[in-house]
This record gives sequence, structure tokens and C-alpha cells, in this order.
Amino acid sequence: MTTETTAPAPQIHKGLAGVVVDTTRISKVNPETNSLLYRGYPVQELAAKCSFEEVAYLLWNGELPDAEQLSVFTQRERAQRALDPVVKSVIDTLPLTAHPMDICRTAASVMGARHPLAEDSSPEANLAKAMDLFAAFPAIVAYDQRRRRGQQPVEPREDLGYAANFLWMSFGEEAADDVVDAFNVSMILYAEHSFNASTFTARVITSTLSDLHSAVTGAIGALKGPLHGGANEAVMETFEQIGMDGDNLTERATAWLEDALASKKKIMGFGHRVYKHGDSRVPTMKAALDRMILHYDRPDISELYDALAAGMHQRKNIEPNLDYPAGPAYHLMGFDTQTFTPIFVAARITGWTAHIMEQLEANSLIRPLSEYNGPDQRSVEP
Ligand code: ACO
Repeated sequence: MTTETTAPAPQIHKGLAGVVVDTTRISKVNPETNSLLYRGYPVQELAAKCSFEEVAYLLWNGELPDAEQLSVFTQRERAQRALDPVVKSVIDTLPLTAHPMDICRTAASVMGARHPLAEDSSPEANLAKAMDLFAAFPAIVAYDQRRRRGQQPVEPREDLGYAANFLWMSFGEEAADDVVDAFNVSMILYAEHSFNASTFTARVITSTLSDLHSAVTGAIGALKGPLHGGANEAVMETFEQIGMDGDNLTERATAWLEDALASKKKIMGFGHRVYKHGDSRVPTMKAALDRMILHYDRPDISELYDALAAGMHQRKNIEPNLDYPAGPAYHLMGFDTQTFTPIFVAARITGWTAHIMEQLEANSLIRPLSEYNGPDQRSVEP
């Protein structure tokens, strides 16, 4: 009598849900306490007290800068803001109908091919490349929006901080202080979020010992999808489908939601893989959105926001994620809907590059297994 032993069926972790793949010192997402720390600091405190430049420094260096460190850092950032003429000429060859995320992806790739330290992956070279991307991306995002609008590019201004200069290059006029502040808050909130899909993509690419720009280019591809960064655009499309003018906004939003849920649609800007009781970043971004609603006098946006959020809570017990308040805030500031995810890119470049550098400190090739469930072995018939 023979006894057959079969290997136990492997446990499948679809979507890697719940799988801890590595350690990180960069940020801590705690779904139990709805909290998010960057290098130990609560993100809400950073958003209230810091500039985005200080947060970029923190993510890369592990500590907030002192006055002198910040001065050196911002001088470098301001000196590298101008749009590289070669990147500009490549963008100009692309159709105006190209999605702005495709423009971002291409621009990051071109910047990599042109970087004087392209094949140098030392920490110093990677920090220089990270600074280069961080400083240059506002010009790329602003240029692409302006060219689609048929407007001339606006040169960066070294006398403005990162957020104020981003708005200046986008619209050609100085933004009001509360608008600059809301934009700065959004950049800080979008900067980093542990092993999300795009950051993990960047870490996978880095784990093969590929270069930093390849990792960022791949991360931009991952961020484009509507289940990740693309959701902020989709939120605005929802608001536009419901219609932002006229009466009965709450009733219209409720009816829209009923239809969408009846047809099993995912409502963009709601839900999260990690947070199950609400996204820790939402209250801070919602407060910034409220300031924009007051600034631009748009109670209609407030009504739509509340109606959908209340409906999702009641019907599905699902709460908004960061994209839900960020999308309408960018709309009010005057950005085209398709520019929302590129703004997210400009912010998340800081987190991605921090993770790329951390991955290289103790690298191990990321290569999971799969369980084959295709046809049994067979022969090729001649
Ligand atoms: N609208 C409607 N139902 C939803 C939503 C939603 N936004 N999110 C989750 N659900 C429901 C699902 O239909 C599912 O229900 P079921 O069990 O009855 O089938 C249940 O909640 C679990 O959903 P999953 O998709 O399995 O949960 P997962 O953890 O994989 O999803 C995700 C997370 C992808 C973010 C999801 O909530 C979603 O698609 N949201 C919309 C897209 C979005 O806003 N993305 C932005 C993410 S945050 C960021 O990138 C800043």
C-alpha cells in the first residue's frame, strides 16, 4: 500500500492584502487609531506648521531641517525649478489629447535619460536626482496644463515658496495666502503613505537595482489608475455628472448615488485598503476644502460633498479617502480635472524617492511566488 503525500495548498494573498513585506522608517499608517506619522510626526501637525519643502527634507533626511539647513535646501530647490528645454520639446511632440499623467511619465523618463548621474545609484546621486524631480515637476505640470489651454508658459519665481510658485506657474498670477496654504496642506498630505501601490511599484523596480528615474516612472504609471491616484479626478467627474448648478443638489446627489450603487459601481474617493474607519488625512484636507469653499463662495460644492459622504456612510458605511476633498479643492483653485493626479505626482515624488533610497539601504529582490492554475502539462501536437 502506498501513501501519497500532497503539499498543503499555499495560502494566496490576493492583492497582497494584509501582507507585511518589509519594515520602513519613513511613515506609519495606523488604521486602528486613524493616524499617519511621517518619521514620527503626525501629518496633521506637519500640515499645520510646516512648508512642503520642510516635509520633503524630513522624508529624505529623517529630521526636520534647522533654519540653515532649510535655507540651503530651498535655495537648491528654487535654483532647479526651470523647465528643461529638452523635456519641454519632448512634451511638445505629444498630442494635446494625451492624458497629463502620460506627460508626467514621459517627462520623468526623459529626465532620467538626461541626468548626468544617470547610472550612479549612490545615496548622494539619488538625493540629487530626487531634488531634481521635486524641483522640476511643478514646471512640468503647470506647462502641460497651460499648453492644453493654449497659454504661454510662465517662468518660475525664486522669491516664492514651492506652493506659491506652483500656483504662479499654473495660472500666471499670485495666489491669495489662504489658497497657497490649502495647496501646501494638500501637498503635505499627499507626500507619503507607506507601501501604497505606487510606492510599492517604485520599491519593486528599485529592488532589481534599476535606477531612481525608472522607479519613479513606474510609480507614475501605478498612480494613474482610478483605484489609486486617479480617484481625485474621478471625484470631480462625479460632481460634474450630478451637476454643480441649480436646485435640489442633495436630492440629485442622493439619486445619483442610489443608481450608481444599484449598478454596483465603485464610488470614487471612498474606501481604502488600509483604513476601514476613515482616512486619517481627510479631516485636515476637508478643513482646507472648507476654506476654499468660503474663499470662492461655492456652497454648492459643500452641499454635494456632504450629500454623497452622508449617503455613502448610511448606505455602505464607507468613508471618504483623501481624494474626495482634494479633488474639489483643486477644482476651486482653478486646475483642470486632468491635472489633479499630476499634482499628486509632484507631491508623492518626495515619498517615492525616500522609499527608493530606503530600499537600497538593505535591498532584497522583491519576487513573490504564484500558484499555477492553468492546464496540466501537455505536448505540442505537430
Ligand atoms: N464604492 C462602493 N463600494 C465600495 C467602495 C467604493 N468606493 N470601496 C469599497 N467598496 C465595497 C466593495 O464593493 C466591497 O463590497 P462587497 O464586499 O459587497 O463586494 C467592499 O467594499 C470591499 O471593497 P474592496 O474593493 O474589496 O476593498 P479594497 O480594500 O480592495 O478596496 C479601494 C480599496 C480599491 C480603495 C476601494 O475602496 C475603491 O475602489 N475605492 C474607490 C477608488 C478610490 O477612491 N481610490 C483612492 C484610494 S486612496 C488614494 O489613492 C489617495
